[in-house]
Amino acid sequence: MKALIFDDERTIRNVLKKVLIKEDIDVKSYESGKDAPEIIQEENPDVVFLDISLGDADGLDILKKIITFENKPYVIMISGHNEYNYLIEAMKLGAYDYIPKPFDINRIRKVINDIKKILNIETVTETSEIDIIGKSPAMEEVFKVVGRAGASDEPVLITGESGTGKEVIAKLIHKYSNRADNPFIAINCAAIPSGLIEAELFGYEKGAFTGADRSKKGKFLLADGGTIFLDEISEMSLEAQGKLLRVLQEMEVTPVGSSKTYSIDVRVVSATNKDLIKLVAEGKFREDLFYRLSVIEIHLPPLRERKEDIPDLIELFLKQAIKKYGLKKGGFTKEAIELMMRYDYPGNVRELKNIVNKLIALYRERPITPELLPPKITGGSSSVKHNWKDSFVAETREMILKNKKNIYTKMIEEAEKLVIEEVLKYTNGNISEAAKYLGIHRNTIHRKIEDLNIAINKL
Ligand SMILES: Nc1ncnc2c1ncn2[C@@H]1O[C@H](COP(=O)(O)OP(=O)(O)OP(=O)(O)O)[C@@H](O)[C@H]1O
Ligand SMILES: [Mg+2]
Repeated sequence: MKALIFDDERTIRNVLKKVLIKEDIDVKSYESGKDAPEIIQEENPDVVFLDISLGDADGLDILKKIITFENKPYVIMISGHNEYNYLIEAMKLGAYDYIPKPFDINRIRKVINDIKKILNIETVTETSEIDIIGKSPAMEEVFKVVGRAGASDEPVLITGESGTGKEVIAKLIHKYSNRADNPFIAINCAAIPSGLIEAELFGYEKGAFTGADRSKKGKFLLADGGTIFLDEISEMSLEAQGKLLRVLQEMEVTPVGSSKTYSIDVRVVSATNKDLIKLVAEGKFREDLFYRLSVIEIHLPPLRERKEDIPDLIELFLKQAIKKYGLKKGGFTKEAIELMMRYDYPGNVRELKNIVNKLIALYRERPITPELLPPKITGGSSSVKHNWKDSFVAETREMILKNKKNIYTKMIEEAEKLVIEEVLKYTNGNISEAAKYLGIHRNTIHRKIEDLNIAINKL
């Protein structure tokens, strides 16, 4: 994040700079406001702190110019006392906020953190839209076909197991076609009751069926000029399949209950995780429709067949998670990545993404080491987790058989030690934080560390 400060008072500039640098913000400050608009355009900051009355310029005049910029920053006005009338004007013009002099440091921090949040939200959705990973030979092949598909208008059928990225590839095809400026409309055929799918795809007139209390445009018309994505195409009823085939042949739709037909210009991309050829053989999917949909075929290999993509995918999902949770850093150790590459991911890329997300949500900036990975990745070495109570019982029984004394204290202390140690690991040795998680007093933890000989491993 980048900020510029315009204020003619040196102490103000210095205080503000200090606070911002602490917040990890890249700052430049200026005494003069004369060239402020030009400087702002040149530097393209995220935030501008602008004094209302600079020595050589009027803050409001500068603000008026800034708000016409295409890439305008958030502007925070700095105001002295008796400048309230200007302040109201500034807020009306579109300033994001103001901070009165003398400064309240907490107020500056709050404004900055709010802006950080806004900026983060935007960038996360942006990157998750366009970031696609794949340098394995299998994915390179996929990208080649995507390129070819982009140049034509033929229907594309994307096949692949659940979570392999079929929807991502469908969007990519649209993005690289000459339809990119027109809509991409997705419809999940499995999510719509079979009786309603026609109405959903082709639209309906008021009164066409019970519940149709007004007419509605279908997805095909909404996608006109663009791309329609028919996800889980195998779930369509044979009847709806017949209607879809006709629409594709004629390139026109007739809304349910209407006598009018509309010609359409839509590119069809469909996807399935089923074996359509088998369904055709079983009479569950129309052969003619299958050929119509699969002029271009793209098969997405399961992740276990392109494991060389795993490290890059981890890095991408890590970056997204770090932004999502507003962290400064976070990452996996080499050993952890190696283990992650050994696992087979029945849920494919989606499963990998969920694992990375959960780990970062849980451990935040702490480096992810092998022992933090879920048992399915580490190979069941933590299978005890599923029956820890049994282990506890077994241990107790063994102590009885061995005629041990003080079984109660020994077992309870053992348990206490494990729980406290684990929480301290998570808080990276921070005792106050551990106290919050454990719900016991800091002093108690200190005492337990002594009594139970608990090791604190700081990273
Ligand atoms: N190559 C890739 N690069 C980056 N992210 C990916 C890639 N492939 C998949 N993803 C991510 O993995 C998740 C699953 O992808 P997607 O929804 O496209 O899978 P799908 O094949 O449509 O799954 P399903 O059959 O379950 O609907 C999404 O969050 C997507 O962003
Ligand atoms: Mg999908």
